[in-house]
Amino acid sequence: MSAIPDPVAAAVAATVARHRQDPHYILQMLREIQEACDWIAPEAIDRLQQALGLPRTKVEGVAGFYSFLYTKPRGRYRVLFSDNITDRMLGNMELLRRMCEQLWIERGKTSEDGLVSVDTTSCTGMCDQGPALLVNNYAITRVDAPRVDAICELIRAQVELAAWPREYFRVDDQVRRKDVLLGAALAPGEALAAGCARGAEALLAELKLSKLRGRGGAGFSTGLKWEACRNAAGSEHYVVCNADEGEPGTFKDRVLLSAHADLVFEGMSLCALALGARRGMLYLRGEYRYMLDQLNAVLERRRQAGLLGIGILGREGFDFDIEIHLGAGAYICGEESALIESLEGKRGTPRNRPPFPVTHGYLDQPTVVNNVETFAASCLVALRGGAWYAGIGTSASAGTKILSVSGDCARPGLYEYPYGVSVSEVLAACGAVDVQAVQVSGPSGVCLAAGEFGRRIAFEDIPTAGAFMVFDQRRDMFAVARNFVHFFAHESCGFCTPCRVGTSLLRNLMDKLNNGHGSPYDFAEIEKLNRILQAMSHCGLGHSACNPVLDTIAKFRPAYERRLQQKEFEPAFDLDWALEPARQMTGRDDAGAHIGSVEKS
Ligand SMILES: Cc1cc2nc3c(=O)[nH]c(=O)nc-3n(C[C@H](O)[C@H](O)[C@H](O)COP(=O)(O)O)c2cc1C
Ligand code: SF4
Repeated sequence: MSAIPDPVAAAVAATVARHRQDPHYILQMLREIQEACDWIAPEAIDRLQQALGLPRTKVEGVAGFYSFLYTKPRGRYRVLFSDNITDRMLGNMELLRRMCEQLWIERGKTSEDGLVSVDTTSCTGMCDQGPALLVNNYAITRVDAPRVDAICELIRAQVELAAWPREYFRVDDQVRRKDVLLGAALAPGEALAAGCARGAEALLAELKLSKLRGRGGAGFSTGLKWEACRNAAGSEHYVVCNADEGEPGTFKDRVLLSAHADLVFEGMSLCALALGARRGMLYLRGEYRYMLDQLNAVLERRRQAGLLGIGILGREGFDFDIEIHLGAGAYICGEESALIESLEGKRGTPRNRPPFPVTHGYLDQPTVVNNVETFAASCLVALRGGAWYAGIGTSASAGTKILSVSGDCARPGLYEYPYGVSVSEVLAACGAVDVQAVQVSGPSGVCLAAGEFGRRIAFEDIPTAGAFMVFDQRRDMFAVARNFVHFFAHESCGFCTPCRVGTSLLRNLMDKLNNGHGSPYDFAEIEKLNRILQAMSHCGLGHSACNPVLDTIAKFRPAYERRLQQKEFEPAFDLDWALEPARQMTGRDDAGAHIGSVEKS
């Protein structure tokens, strides 16, 4: 074997030992190796593959899937600007250009001295305090020109991240409106004790009575989900908390975990009580790396208090513990079956469903996957009962919903309302004026125009996982839709052809319109793509990828028509644009190096 640099060997040995040589932790191992060595060198893959007894291709396949894992050097400082539409509205692209100029690097490239790289990433969940960026996966909020200049200085001086001003890494909760959940202020163990006093059967009955439905998007009945899992045959039952929160514009799980972690872990423990599960996992998105230590500290405190571990609250046979798995920059891992694949140490590819996780989930065993907010809400049901909870909200949508409000408004942040609140009420509360549109539930949700602001946040009207992005009259709704389409093309996992190709074609069509080459024929192309994506995609990402375009064409057509300079169809392939890499390589960008100029001359 070739001589292996010591830090790599040490990092591999340490992570393999930490995870007891268990190949299901391969994603965690790769992440930890990168944290220690800045990237995952071929030697690290060799070492890991040997230590785990896996084929090299398996380790490479996992490392290649996640956008935060690097199998090529990306610098000691890896800067990623958050690129949600709300970051764009706050000028993230100018800030990125400024940083690249100051550091003398090209976006996407690593500096020649191996010190730094600068690129973009999908929404980092900081929309209420953007523009945001990540440095080595740690979030920096409220980026402006002086902060960019200071960061460049710190990088040039090679100051360790731990010595950077703490203020840069400040992430505020910004809770603007509390209702029964955010205002609950329960003592650790209070809801769990109430759940234990009821017993598993009665807890399930209360949960069904409460009409609590999943807060992650699909809105499935939580009581029925827990019951189906409890009744499913298996050697072990598992509890999984989905804290991947990748939908652009959503950040309520971030606040629940930072300010109410006990409530979330307690909801998972209640679920364990109902299922008879002994193991729980919280899948935390990689963008929330900064929370890992504080969440582990909460878990440890709960162990010390007898709220996790063996014989919880003194009850013989109630043994349950929770561990945290960190994601690595893949939106698709929020889809529950992809999340389970990722937890098992694989690429995050959605599974065929059925069977559903309640019968065949983690390690093919019965598994409940719930959103952070769903688990937190289950504590209220355990404590106050199903009838009390069902009395809040509307008849089809019980309880409250936490909205992550961002964009053009005076008071971005978290707003908790009973279901049934109207869009206009939320707009008034957050100080939004002259509003043109609201995108509810992120790019895969719905774009509402002014005439629809009387509609209500509820499963029977506008269901939402929580994102609420406001756009005033200054905003170009075509640019909004184009940003969302780029997001889907970037985040498609590539498993099925209709989505992999379809989302790219859609992105190309939007770019073509943006570049002034669009014609009315392109609308028909978009419709056709939508039909293919809807009918033939393997999972929800593909099904909803056209939503933002169709919505904005229907409601904000002038934003598209302004760009239609052609009457006749033009192919989506733009030769001049495709020649850009060649121009960059040759360092030639004069008029003669462009197709249009050559044709005219
Ligand atoms: C592409 C895609 C991304 C998703 N991302 C998330 C997510 O980040 N968080 C989440 O809770 N659910 C997400 N979901 C929904 C989950 O698949 C699942 O329905 C949810 O975690 C179940 O929990 P709930 O019943 O508490 O809502 C996503 C679904 C799809 C199709
Ligand atoms: S629809 Fe897209 S994201 Fe979903 S499995 Fe297919 S390629 Fe992957």
